[in-house]
Formats: sequence, C-alpha cells, structure tokens
Amino acid sequence: MTRGCEKEYEGRPLLVTMGLDGDATTASAPAKCILFGEHAVVYGEPAVAVALEQRLNVRISPAKSWSIDGSSLTAKRHPHIHHLVHALWTNTSEPKPLSVHVTGDIPRASGLGSSAALSVALCAALDTSRENSGDRLDHDEMSHLAHMAEATAQSGRASPMDTSTSTLGGVVVLSDRKEDGCEWAFTRQLETPEGMRTWEIHTMTPPQDDVYLVLGNTGVHAPTSHQVALVAAALEANPERINEIRAIGSISRRGLKALQEGNYDVVGHAMSENHLILRNLGVSSEELETLISAALPTALGAKLTGAGGGGCMVALTRQPKATSEAIELAGGRTLISRLGNPGATLIEGPKETFWRD
Ligand code: PMV
Repeated sequence: MTRGCEKEYEGRPLLVTMGLDGDATTASAPAKCILFGEHAVVYGEPAVAVALEQRLNVRISPAKSWSIDGSSLTAKRHPHIHHLVHALWTNTSEPKPLSVHVTGDIPRASGLGSSAALSVALCAALDTSRENSGDRLDHDEMSHLAHMAEATAQSGRASPMDTSTSTLGGVVVLSDRKEDGCEWAFTRQLETPEGMRTWEIHTMTPPQDDVYLVLGNTGVHAPTSHQVALVAAALEANPERINEIRAIGSISRRGLKALQEGNYDVVGHAMSENHLILRNLGVSSEELETLISAALPTALGAKLTGAGGGGCMVALTRQPKATSEAIELAGGRTLISRLGNPGATLIEGPKETFWRD
C-alpha cells in the first residue's frame, strides 16, 4: 500500500510515493537511444538522444554493511556506485552503510545506457536521503556526478549523452555549440586523455504523435572504444572523410527540425539517411543490416543506434507490433517505446533521512 503526492522537481512534476517501509528510498532513471549523430558527436557535430520507457530502479535502505544486490561493494566490481558514494559523501570520513538493490528492464551492454541509468538513479536516491534537504542536487549537478562516475569507469572517456538523457528525460540534444530552437540546459566539460572537451546540452519537446521506437538488439557486444577507434582510423587514413562526419551533422540538424515540427515522416527518412553514412564509415555489421532491412518495410526509417558493430538498431514506426515481429523473425530481440519519457524520478521517499553529510 502506498500514498502518493505530487511534488515539483527542477520545475517538472514528480510523483513521490511514500512506501510503508519508511527507511527505503527508490529512484528510477530511463534508458536512452540515439536518434541522430553518434560518432559525429565525437567531432563536435550535434546528436539527438531520446529517453526510453525502459527504466532502472535503485532502492537503498540502511544496513549493517554496504551491499549491492547481496554482494559487497567494491570499486572493481561496482565502479559507478563506488565513485558516486564517495563523491556525494564528501564531509564524512565514514559513510553510513546502505543496502542497494537494482531492478529494471534495460538490457546491459547493448548501447541503451544501462550504466548511466544506474548512476543517475543512484544519485537521485542518495540525494533525497541526505539530511540537508535545502541543498538538493539540481539536474545539472546530478548529471555531472553521474557523468564523472561514467568517466571514472571508462578510463576518462565518456560523452555526457547517456547521463544527460537519463537525468533530463524527453529528447536531449548535444553539440559543441548552443543550438537554435532547443532549450539550453547546461554545459558539460571533461578532461579526457585527448584533452579538454566541452558539450552544450539542450532539451526539446517533440509534438505528440502516434509513433513508436522499436529497438532491435543483435545480441552482439562491440565495445564503444573499438568503434570510436575505427572511425578515428578511417579519418586518419583519409582526412577528407571528415565531410561524412559533417554530413551526419547536417542530417542531425535536419532531423531535429523535423522532430520539432512533428514531421515524423521526415524524421524517419533522416534516420535512414544517417544510417547510410554510418554504414559507409564502417561501423555497421551484418547483424545490424539484417535487422534494419527487416524493419524498413513497416517503418518510417531505421538505423543503428549507439556505437554500432553490434548492440542495437532503432526503427521509427507507426506499426510497432508489425515492426517488432519483423525484427524478431530476423533474429533480433525487441523493445518498444514511445518518444519522450520522464528523466530521473523519485518513486519512494524516506520517512526520515538517514544520510548525514
Ligand atoms: O552506444 P553508446 O551509448 O556507447 O554510444 C556511443 C556514441 C558514440 O558517439 C559512438 C561515442 C560517444 O562518446 O559519443
């Protein structure tokens, strides 16, 4: 049995549900998929990501010792969680131990941002438990902490796309400059092994329509670092191929404009066009091509999403069942989502704070 009440969180309504177990806090954060601009965003071009319906929930409650789903917390096994606990717990030498329980329906290591959702949801849960309620993290701080956790876990190389989308929800646009027609949210910077990088993060709200995203998982794992290195090598061998990167940038801007206007036929077309360039750059795979070809007859457009080489493809469709069935018949595992889902959300709050900063 639960009691619900509406609260404001960063100007967005947030449903807070007080559970009977007054000591527990549960927060949730969404998966993401990239609609436009992967790889090109590494070279400063804009990228557009969408928060998916699939979410990850993190429940924390006081315990005698730290545990994550029953196993003890270590930096090696749980780099994101370890980083966040120490980043948030700045003023105390001995953090009070918590039991952390993670549930959800985001497949791991498939380019849908499961580790970012974990970091963001944990940040939201830990934050609401801190004693100084006047000093809550805002979206900028929450996504910054989660981004740092990702960067720590990925040897200093992480774009803020996943953590920003998981925090803010809806549709998020990343670029090296402030983009027209979007709502600028914050600037994100990271000192990477290749030097300082800066991203401008924006949000936008597409008009409602009866369109769906169908994600098709190839089940093949291709590390993002390997895929990014493939593109870097292609550019080094042929510097004029930067034109392909710029072409992705202009497709992203065109796709974004169509999204703002609610012109989903054009959005789908731009997605397919984006895919052709990614394929030409060498980051697609046989499995991705098979799933994309299977989806296209019933979709407005389809492309790989994320780093490619494996992972997922995404189709924009008005016939989610037919598109999903076609992808499954071709060997993919599917998820269906509407566009523009909520970002970090607190779903169960503590009766009393047990966190002392
Ligand atoms: O599949 P993901 O979520 O790791 O996306 C990678 C996106 C790239 O543009 C290929 C890399 C990046 O850092 O933006």
